[in-house]
Amino acid sequence: MNTTMEPVVTLASAPGKVILMGEHAVVYGRPAIALPVFQVQATARLDAQPGTHELWLHAVDLRQRRALSDTPDTDPLALCVRRTCAALGIDPPTGELTVTATIPLAGGLGSGAAISAAVVRVLAGWAGRSLSPAEVSELVFTVEELHHGTPSGIDNTVIAYARPVWFVKGQTPAPFTVPHAFTLVIANSGIPSPTRVTVGDVRQAWLAAPELYEQLFDQVGFLVHEARDALLAGTWPYLGSLMTHNHALLVQLGVSSPPLDRLVQAAQDAGAWGAKLSGGGRGGNVIALVSGTSAEVVAAALRDAGAANTIVTHVPATKD
Ligand code: PMV
Repeated sequence: MNTTMEPVVTLASAPGKVILMGEHAVVYGRPAIALPVFQVQATARLDAQPGTHELWLHAVDLRQRRALSDTPDTDPLALCVRRTCAALGIDPPTGELTVTATIPLAGGLGSGAAISAAVVRVLAGWAGRSLSPAEVSELVFTVEELHHGTPSGIDNTVIAYARPVWFVKGQTPAPFTVPHAFTLVIANSGIPSPTRVTVGDVRQAWLAAPELYEQLFDQVGFLVHEARDALLAGTWPYLGSLMTHNHALLVQLGVSSPPLDRLVQAAQDAGAWGAKLSGGGRGGNVIALVSGTSAEVVAAALRDAGAANTIVTHVPATKD
């Protein structure tokens, strides 16, 4: 028991993510491949203050600081705290919970899921409990439902497991081995685009033209299977062409935009093996598959074509 009334500090973090192939179709049961991105992360810090009566929720990037007791469950942070404490069988701590992220918000790099995963872990850490990736993932999913409406579960899975995943909605994520390292350039369009909106638009379009959309989802699913083989074989030019083809299908699904199409074209013109939007679309990020030596040239071309910033991420070979 803490008798000194000193704050007890607990820290936790979670990585960002990109979807390599298969976004949107994954909501309709097709497979997708997602990768953690460790260069960006969300951090949660809990300053538990025994002897006080309130938990303050401080979302630094949103410049919001609110009392948990005054914050409804429509707020993802409050919901995450309540759901996690309920799952752990504890009362929420008192003191201050501070969340911050180097992951651009609403940018398709999983900022919401990463913040939730960090919060789940910080509360579990404070309670002296260790949760499995599956348990973290499930709790984060219930918060993602608030952001997205009908999330597939891919963001919470890749972020909670912090390893490449082959994801099919409703199935336990399969261990996914990446035998050869490779390099991606991630270009942030600088255009915020809430995933809930594009997921909702695709749903409306699917309801209006189910046959067409099911056919497009099938084509995406086929490309994702091919991409798995290409990743296993290390056939990068082929993987790149699959990514570019996936982008063309995302255009047909109605989730691209002229700025994203310009970035995809610029990456190809600068020598990338292939490029596509990643995540919800319209804004957010474009990813380009590149050789280690062309990464900086492609990144510069993407910035010239309007990217607000770029990240070069080397995806390591999986060790196990
Ligand atoms: O969170 P985002 O923007 O990376 O997108 C998630 C991927 C979607 O397939 C568009 C939605 C989902 O829940 O799978």
